[in-house]
Amino acid sequence: MSSSNHTVFVCSATGYQGGALARRLREISWNVHATTRNLSSAAAIALKDMGVHLNECDWDNAAALKDSIKGCDKLFLCLMPDWDDPSRELRQCQIILQIAKEAGVKQVVSSTTLGVSQLDANVRVYPGSFMEKHMLNKKAIEKAVEDHGFEYFTFLRPTFFMANFLKPKVKRYSEICDHRRWTTAMTNETQLPILDHVDIAKFAVAAFQDPVTFYGRAIGLASDQMRVQEILDLLGEAAGQPGSIRAIFLTDEETEAQDDGTSFASTHKVLRTASDYVDLDLLRAIAPLTTFKDFLKREKEAVKQTYT
Ligand SMILES: NC(=O)c1ccc[n+]([C@@H]2O[C@H](COP(=O)([O-])OP(=O)(O)OC[C@H]3O[C@@H](n4cnc5c(N)ncnc54)[C@H](OP(=O)(O)O)[C@@H]3O)[C@@H](O)[C@H]2O)c1
Repeated sequence: MSSSNHTVFVCSATGYQGGALARRLREISWNVHATTRNLSSAAAIALKDMGVHLNECDWDNAAALKDSIKGCDKLFLCLMPDWDDPSRELRQCQIILQIAKEAGVKQVVSSTTLGVSQLDANVRVYPGSFMEKHMLNKKAIEKAVEDHGFEYFTFLRPTFFMANFLKPKVKRYSEICDHRRWTTAMTNETQLPILDHVDIAKFAVAAFQDPVTFYGRAIGLASDQMRVQEILDLLGEAAGQPGSIRAIFLTDEETEAQDDGTSFASTHKVLRTASDYVDLDLLRAIAPLTTFKDFLKREKEAVKQTYT
């Protein structure tokens, strides 16, 4: 396959997974089109410097999207939830898919969440909770991709990002860096699968390079897996403060008491069984995986900045 013939529209190219993918695609000399809402951000400038065709655009702006997707034969679909407007992500998805279809895109690789695998397996999620809505939204995105009749599609379903332990993403788990503890509805025995966002890009590239083999597959993505306290111990060591971060495990009663549909505890309860939905051996056969130790080594500057 002649690589230089391919042009990929990468959603979220200024973000973690999209950024890693844009870089990898440029490394193999594929063309990358992308959008950002701020052409002067550091991430946007870095993309420009690596030869990404970048337009200023919000995903609500169909005309600008049309301009950017024109000439692309592949699409990496990775959108953002809007907590204030839960239907926005799916609306933007429909706009992008319609434009991609009309532009002649043949293959879509869509990054959603491991939660879709759990939803499919009827894992108990608190009805009406923000987590349930989030999972349903991502599942609806996958259905929309299928319904648009692209020649090839693949679903990547990422687990909990390793980057969630570092700035800026740690703000959702600020207790970890502010108070050096993580209060969670997971248990001491829970094996938590965690994912390096750079590994998502490896799987997306593998799928883009071999659309037939990856056609129709939904792949739960993780890079490493261990107990919560082991994760926090590695984090503490990398920060030069061994043993400083402790996991606090809520009892089932405490979890139920918090589980009113809005708290984050419900999310963590779902994470108790996340490891049932990833097959690390299968993943390793497709691409090399990054251990949490190696991730922390690579991100040592971010570790230092987060845990000063
Ligand atoms: N964190 C986790 O543990 C985890 C696990 C599984 C799945 N996920 C999913 O991963 C996705 C986030 O991926 P990420 O962390 O790689 O992204 P990220 O680093 O948070 O980056 C967000 C990207 O979205 C773009 N963006 C946001 N709103 C936009 C809008 N209205 N119009 C155009 N562009 C917009 C931003 O572009 P500009 O700011 O440049 O415009 C940026 O490129 C989410 O859908 C999340 O549900 C996360």
